[in-house]
Amino acid sequence: MVQIKVHHIDGRISRISVSPAVSLLNSLLSAGIAMHHRCGGKAQCGTCRIRISATSKDSTVTNSISAKEAERLTAIGADPAAGDRLACQTYVFADTDVYLFD
Ligand code: FES
Repeated sequence: MVQIKVHHIDGRISRISVSPAVSLLNSLLSAGIAMHHRCGGKAQCGTCRIRISATSKDSTVTNSISAKEAERLTAIGADPAAGDRLACQTYVFADTDVYLFD
């Protein structure tokens, strides 16, 4: 298990434990954190967008962005260079910070 510090849009912070084998979306939902996920985790809607700490963008911290995820991030105007990811496509392997957009 790894530890994630979740930064809510209103300034609250939640600390949760996640398994590297479970998507970040499912980990957040399991922790009781409300997340939009209109397409059900298929990288088709972009409503689950989050931002990973800028210091945590290497492959030792999360899985790499797939072509499918990159396509959706581009379509919604997200910025992968800033750490934007789709929570449904992200697996976290080491402690990090996650920022919610809504
Ligand atoms: S839930 Fe639709 S892109 Fe993640």
